Amino acid sequence: MAVLDGAAIASQLRQAAQNGAGRQALLQLAADRIRAAGSPYTSAYLYMLHGQELVLEAFSGRETDHTHIPVGKGVCGTAVATGLDQNVPDVRAIGNYLACNLETRSELVVLIRRGDDILGQIDIDSDVVDPFTAAEEAENRRVAEALAELL
Ligand code: SME
Repeated sequence: MAVLDGAAIASQLRQAAQNGAGRQALLQLAADRIRAAGSPYTSAYLYMLHGQELVLEAFSGRETDHTHIPVGKGVCGTAVATGLDQNVPDVRAIGNYLACNLETRSELVVLIRRGDDILGQIDIDSDVVDPFTAAEEAENRRVAEALAELL
């Protein structure tokens, strides 16, 4: 069973939207709820695509200097450039990683898609090596799908 309960977070997002929450509040809620899952979820970042750049619009956890990431750069930019979610079991093993801190060991990027369009991404950092199973990925996709509907 996955650590993250994507269906519960998706339903909280839908409820918040019904109660009038706007884009910023929904992105912040998603970041907060994902981080609240606890280990292996250390920090959650919501990067949204503005032209050829990913812009950090909400996060929960450790601060990052990477508030603007060009498409193609780092793990985040690679996800957009390739159109593929990224699951990096050990960030020390890859060359195109943009480090936020020295504790992070692994990273998961799940794209937020609406039809053929990429709206942005959920980016998760973990201090644990290789924690993101297919089940964790699937739970994060449920959150991404809810955001794509509601934003
Ligand atoms: N590590 C990411 C940058 C974003 S921070 O992890 C929040 C990357 O390589 O794209």
